[in-house]
Amino acid sequence: MSATIQSPAGAAFARILSIGSYRPERVVTNAEVCERIDSTDEWIRERSGIVERRYAAPDESVVDMAVSAAEKALASAGISADQVGFVLVATVTHPYPTPSASAEVAYRLGATNAGATDISSACAGFCYGLAMAQDMVRGGSAMYVVLVGVEKLTDWIDLHDRSTGFIFADGAGAVVVGPSDEAAIGPVVWGSDGSQLDAISMTQSLIDYRDNGGPRFPTLVMKGQQVFRWAVSKMAVASQEALDRAGVTADQLDAFIPHQANMRITDAMIRALHLPEHVAVARDIETTGNTSAASVPIAMDRMLSTGEAPHGGTALLIGFGAGLAYAAQVVTLP
Ligand code: UT7
Repeated sequence: MSATIQSPAGAAFARILSIGSYRPERVVTNAEVCERIDSTDEWIRERSGIVERRYAAPDESVVDMAVSAAEKALASAGISADQVGFVLVATVTHPYPTPSASAEVAYRLGATNAGATDISSACAGFCYGLAMAQDMVRGGSAMYVVLVGVEKLTDWIDLHDRSTGFIFADGAGAVVVGPSDEAAIGPVVWGSDGSQLDAISMTQSLIDYRDNGGPRFPTLVMKGQQVFRWAVSKMAVASQEALDRAGVTADQLDAFIPHQANMRITDAMIRALHLPEHVAVARDIETTGNTSAASVPIAMDRMLSTGEAPHGGTALLIGFGAGLAYAAQVVTLP
């Protein structure tokens, strides 16, 4: 006999209710980086836009940083932990495959009624998570979702590697996504290209971790030029599609918040999208470095707290990186 199954009823729309971020205390200058790699302050500024970045303390974990950012976002939303229906953590630097970072984050937040899982989409992870959080709220499987982008990349790069040692850094950003009366998160444009798996990966290969002098473990390696070419040729196209699908034109934007991968990639996207002068552009890489899944929410939080972008304004987001994966959407800022 077939039974009648009740289907969950969700909200009409979803929105980002609030944001919080965590930047580790230790500032690492280009001069310090150049003590380890054969490079110069001038080269790093010119080729990437980075002046300094933040490194987490040795005993500071992905979960510690995620909890700190999520607590700020929850407090700002005025949502208590027991109202949270799901905790999503986008990260590729949690130190072990199981249990998930999200289960521990949920526990430490006191989100005892929440489902929890991690998202492994590297630098695109936050924007992937935002689309998933919106679907949960609209689908009725969670009323409030805590979404965190967090990385401790310094645990996974070879700090002596000239191709990654100057670019990657640590940090966390979090949002609370909840119900809305009007559309505030546009359709996601996302994809991946598995034919370029080798462009950024954590291989089991063979880089001896010099500081330990000992065991070999997965280390992040990147073919910078290959990723650069892909990003410059494809990411403006995905961004334009996100604008078109949201029914928003470039001149209606208040802010453009792309993944903080390289200032030159950001500049190329601005040109390709013909962004008008009034659109505020996230340039957080200058002082935060590339924090992968954390970069979009950290940059968003900074733009809102400095007044560069208005609360309630319209922003175009795009995350892109290993996979090669990407996701873009237009949002109303919290
Ligand atoms: O977040 C995930 C997604 N990641 C990205 O989007 C990163 C995308 N890629 C990039 O941002 C850039 O490729 C990098 C910033 C990583 C590198 O910049 P590049 O302009 O692509 O450098 P390159 O690898 O083409 O090297 C140019 C030159 C070479 O010298 P020659 O052959 O022209 O004499 C390199 O040997 O720069 C040299 N070089 C360096 N010089 C000083 C390479 N790395 C360094 C270095 N310091 N660290």
